[in-house]
Amino acid sequence: MSAPLVDLHCHILPGIDDGAKDTDVTVALLEQEASCGAAAVMFTPHFYYERDTLEKFTERREAAYKKTVAAVKEKGLKIAGKLGAEVHFSSALPSLDLRQLAFEGTDYILIELPTLHMPPNVADVLYDIRCLGLTPIIAHVERYKYISDDPTMLYDWVSEGALAHVNSTSLIRRGKIAATIKKYIEWGLVHFLCSDAHSPHARPANLGEGYALLPEDTAEEFKKNAVDVFLGRDVDARNPEMPKHRFGGWV
Ligand SMILES: [Fe+2]
Repeated sequence: MSAPLVDLHCHILPGIDDGAKDTDVTVALLEQEASCGAAAVMFTPHFYYERDTLEKFTERREAAYKKTVAAVKEKGLKIAGKLGAEVHFSSALPSLDLRQLAFEGTDYILIELPTLHMPPNVADVLYDIRCLGLTPIIAHVERYKYISDDPTMLYDWVSEGALAHVNSTSLIRRGKIAATIKKYIEWGLVHFLCSDAHSPHARPANLGEGYALLPEDTAEEFKKNAVDVFLGRDVDARNPEMPKHRFGGWV
């Protein structure tokens, strides 16, 4: 039997980041999630070490979560939720109490890398995060050109214990980025599909549409992996394959 859909990355909590601006939008996004077949959602508002403190962030997140729980109850939505964060990369991360940012009740933490330039110490920081007993999940790896230019970096991080996800929208838009995702899947370098939903129209909760574009075996693997993470179980990840550079491209 197919596993239920779980979205591990979304900006659905109201008024906390550039996602849902209020509880009406929160409800609309949760209705989209449910209509895609999502049974559970990890709420992952942005956390930026340079602009915020853990204390202020967790306070705001708790307040937004309470509003969400009340709205879900009022609307009778059948969807489970847990608290997490999308943690922007910083060299300072290992010095923080990262448990407060990890996915609730699990040892997983969602890490976003800078879009344009790769920091020189990504491998070291990922290692230090793992030394804290947490498994980093790298957000939307298809977005970073420096990784598609040299996917062996992703191979190294995944080989050492990191996990990675791709965004549903990147598959739905097809084109070059979707082709890159296909290669990452072949090499066993990605483990989850997430919506990264921000708003019902511009950046919707579209997990169902994304899953329909995945090969059946990959879809089943990703669904199971997401359920395992949500429940705090170990992910049974495939052994990754080292990308090889041949005739000017990665194969
Ligand atoms: Fe995000």
